[in-house]
Amino acid sequence: MRVLLVGSGGREHALAWALAKSPLLTKLVCAPGNAGIAQVAECVPIPATDFAALAAFAVENRIDFAVIAADAQLVAGLWDVLEAAGIRSLGPSKAAAVLEGSKGFVKDLCIEAGIPTAAYRRFTAPDAAKAFAETLGYPVVIKADGLAAGKGVIIAADKVEADKAIDFMFEGGFGDSGHEIVVEEFMDGEEASFFALSDGTHVIPLAGAQDHKRVGDGDVGPNTGGMGAYSPAPVLPPSLEQVAMEQFIKPTVAAFAAKGLPYMGVLYLGLMITKAGPKLVEYNARFGDPECQVLMPRLKSDLLAALLAARNGTLDKLNLEWREDVALTVVMASKGYPGSYGKGHVITGLDAAAKLPGVTVFHAGTEKRGNDIVAIGGRVLNVTALGKDVVQAQARAYAAVDLIHWEGAFCRRDIGWRALQR
Ligand code: AMP
Ligand code: GLY
Repeated sequence: MRVLLVGSGGREHALAWALAKSPLLTKLVCAPGNAGIAQVAECVPIPATDFAALAAFAVENRIDFAVIAADAQLVAGLWDVLEAAGIRSLGPSKAAAVLEGSKGFVKDLCIEAGIPTAAYRRFTAPDAAKAFAETLGYPVVIKADGLAAGKGVIIAADKVEADKAIDFMFEGGFGDSGHEIVVEEFMDGEEASFFALSDGTHVIPLAGAQDHKRVGDGDVGPNTGGMGAYSPAPVLPPSLEQVAMEQFIKPTVAAFAAKGLPYMGVLYLGLMITKAGPKLVEYNARFGDPECQVLMPRLKSDLLAALLAARNGTLDKLNLEWREDVALTVVMASKGYPGSYGKGHVITGLDAAAKLPGVTVFHAGTEKRGNDIVAIGGRVLNVTALGKDVVQAQARAYAAVDLIHWEGAFCRRDIGWRALQR
C-alpha cells in the first residue's frame, strides 16, 4: 500500500515512524516532511497548504491512502479535496472538523449531548460579553471562536483584563478567528489529554497523555504548542479513561452522526480534572503534538491498519495493543520560542543520542543542508524515551538531551513533574 502523510512536525515524524513499521506498507511519502521524516519516508517538497498540488501528486503517484495530521489542513478541507480526487484519506471531513474549528459549536454540542464542561455563552458584540463575564466572576476565560494557532484563549484575572481581552478580540487581535467569541467559566484543576479513533459509527480508545504547555520549568511563562509529554498519565487512570469514553467521546460521535456529520478520524479530548470530576476544555480533530510522540512508541499494533479501519468503517473489528511502559518526550526548542527565534544552526549529537537504550529522537523544525542537520523551527526536536516507569523514561530522555547541542537550544528540565509528585 502506498501512503501519503501530510505535514512536517514532530507529530508527523512519530506517525511516519509508526507507519513505516506496517507490514501493509509498500511506500511512504511525506509532504513536505523534515530531516527526520526523510529517514523513514520519501519527502516531496509540496507545502501542506497546496491542496491542488497534493491531490495531483497523490493521483499521479497512485497513492492508496492519505493521512492528514494537522488541524489547519483538516479545517480547511484537505480531506474533501483528496477524496474528491479519488484518494482514500483519514479525515475528518471539513464539515466534521468543526469539532476543532469552532469552539462555540462544541460548547453547544456539550449542552445537547450532556457533556460536562464550563458554563459559557457565545457573543458577536463586546458589551453583552463584558456583562456576562461579570456574572461569571473572575478569573474568567475569553476565547476567539475559530482557530488561532493555539493562541486564541485569554484567562483574565479581573474586570479590567476581561474587558481588554474582549475588545482586543473584536478589534481583530486574533484575526478573523475573533469575529465571534466565547466567554466561559474558569475551571480549576489538572489538565490531561485523551485520544480516541472513530470511523463515524464505532469508536475505540487510544491512550491518555499529559502535555506541558508553558514554556518554563514549573509551568510558568507564555503558552506554547507543548514543551513535553508523557503517557500514560497517572492523572487519567483506567477508571477515568472509561469515563472519558462513556461520558465524552461516545456521546460526541453519536451527536455528530445524528447531525448527519459522521466523524471519521482522531478525537483529541482536552480535559480539566476538577474537584467535581473531569470537564471538557476543548476538542481537537487530530493527534496532539507532542502527545503523538509518546503515543506511537507505546503502540504495539499496526498504526496503518488502525487508521485504515477508521476510514473504512471497520473499527469494531480492531483490537489495539499497547506497551505497559511509560513514554516521555522532551521538546528541544530554539531560544526565543514561542516568540521569534534564530534559524540555521547545526545540530550535533543526534546519532549518539539515538543509540541510548529506549531513545528515539523525533524531528520537528529540522532541515538537511549538505551533511548537516540544522534547526529551522521553534520546536526543533522531541527527544523521546520508553522506560519501565516515569523515573526511568525521564532519566533516559534527559541523558539523550544532554548529548544534543546547537546554538540557542533549550528545553524544560522538569517534564513529567506531576507524575513524579504523585
Ligand atoms: P484551548 O485553546 O481551548 O485548549 O485553551 C488553551 C488553554 O487555556 C487550555 O489548555 C487551558 O490551559 C486553558 N483554558 C481554556 N479554557 C479554560 C477554562 N474554562 N478554565 C481554565 N483554563 C482554561
Ligand atoms: N499539544 C497540544 C496540541 O497539540 O494542541
